[in-house]
Amino acid sequence: MRFFIDTANIDQILEAKDLGILDGVTTNPSLMAKEGITGKNNILKHYKKICDLVDGDVSAEVISTNYEGMVEEGRMLADLADNIVVKVPMIKDGVKAISWFTENDILTNCTLVFSAGQALLAAKAGATYLSPFVGRVDDISWDGMELIREIAEIYAIQSFETEILAASIRSPLHIVQAAKSGADVITSPLSSILGLLNHPLTDIGLEKFLADYNKLNS
Ligand code: G3P
Repeated sequence: MRFFIDTANIDQILEAKDLGILDGVTTNPSLMAKEGITGKNNILKHYKKICDLVDGDVSAEVISTNYEGMVEEGRMLADLADNIVVKVPMIKDGVKAISWFTENDILTNCTLVFSAGQALLAAKAGATYLSPFVGRVDDISWDGMELIREIAEIYAIQSFETEILAASIRSPLHIVQAAKSGADVITSPLSSILGLLNHPLTDIGLEKFLADYNKLNS
C-alpha cells in the first residue's frame, strides 16, 4: 500500500518525504485555502512547487462543475508537470470529464465518493484513482472501512484497474484498517502517519536498553 500525504503544506510534505515513506500528495480546495493560497496564478505556482518536490503523483482538484470547464482546467493542470493527477468530483459532468481525460492519457482521481455505485461509474470511466471518504462516512455513523472492502471486492471481481485511494483518513487506526481492507493507497494528514510510530512498549524498551548500556559504559 502506498502512502500519500493529504496537505498543501510544504513543511509537512518535506517532513513526510524526509521519513522516506512518501509516495505522493493529494490536495483539495479546502487544503489550499488553509495555506492561504488564493488566485489562479498562485494556486498553479503552488501545485508546480509541490510537483517539483515529490517523485510520486500529486492530485490537484478542478473547481469547475461543468464538463467543458473541468476539461479546460484539467488540461491546464496536467500541463504543469508529468506527475499531476486531475482530481474531479463524482458528479455526472465529472464522470464525463474523467472519460475524456482517460481517452487523452491524463491521470485522474475521482473524489467525493461515498458508495459502491459511484465507485463502479468512476472505474467504468477509467479513473486512475478513486477516493472514498472514509472519515466522512464514519461521521454519519456508517462504516467507512466497509465501503473500502465492498469496493475492493467489486474491483477484484471485475478486474478494474482503478486504484482505491482511501481518503478522509483521520487516525493511525484508519491507516491500518485501510491496509487490511484492500486500499491500494491511503492519503492522510501527517499527524496520523506519525501516529503509527507510537507504542508505549517501544518507549519503555528503548529506555531500558539505554539504561543497561549506560550502567556498564559510563
Ligand atoms: O482527502 C480528502 C480529505 O482531505 C477530506 O478529509 O477530514 O476533511 O474529511 P476530511
